[in-house]
Amino acid sequence: MYGMVNKAVEDMVILKHGEVVWEQIKAKAGVEVDVFMSNESYADDITYKLVGAASQVLQVATEQILMEFGEHWVLYTAKDGYGGLMTAAGKTLPEFMRNLPNFHSRMTMVFPKLQPPHFECTEIRERSLKLHYHSHRQGLAPFVVGLMRGLGKKFNTPVTILQTAIKSQGADHDIFEVTWTTTS
Ligand code: HEM
Repeated sequence: MYGMVNKAVEDMVILKHGEVVWEQIKAKAGVEVDVFMSNESYADDITYKLVGAASQVLQVATEQILMEFGEHWVLYTAKDGYGGLMTAAGKTLPEFMRNLPNFHSRMTMVFPKLQPPHFECTEIRERSLKLHYHSHRQGLAPFVVGLMRGLGKKFNTPVTILQTAIKSQGADHDIFEVTWTTTS
């Protein structure tokens, strides 16, 4: 994954737990990269090792780390570093969700090595939709839940996310029922 992802994991840990804890996590992960370059591509393994080590050092389940990371990504990383992309994708949660399937494909021009997730929205209603998440990577469904929670906060729109199909339990892909309480 592009370095911006690992860098964002680093930012989140340092913000919540400080530099010393981050160094412990990096050491436990056996990751020797000093500075992650946002626009450089790194092996996915590095990200998984960092999340796994964070789970061990902080004594929190990896799923929880990934959820928190999803929120952090939307509320800090995307907001500060890629605000233009976020603004262009929608002014309200429903609008943003409808644009999500095309969100990463627009970025492949700038990031040619991007291997983005694929999203599809079905059963779009005034206050709900089904979000289909396809990825060649494993275990990132909790990250999607955190991203959605972050988007709910970003748009001041209380949102409920219920996973109705679970790939790791044999489903074809992950599906989330996303419900929000205002139409704004
Ligand atoms: C400006 C905002 C965003 C940027 C710059 C961005 C960029 C990226 C990058 C660089 C990756 C790593 C993939 C790779 O390097 O091959 C990634 C992965 C991912 N992104 Fe985004 N993203 C943004 C917003 C979002 C939003 C709003 C969502 C969903 C609500 C999302 C969902 C995901 C997921 C689930 C992955 C994990 C990869 C996978 O499932 O295979 N991203 N994104």
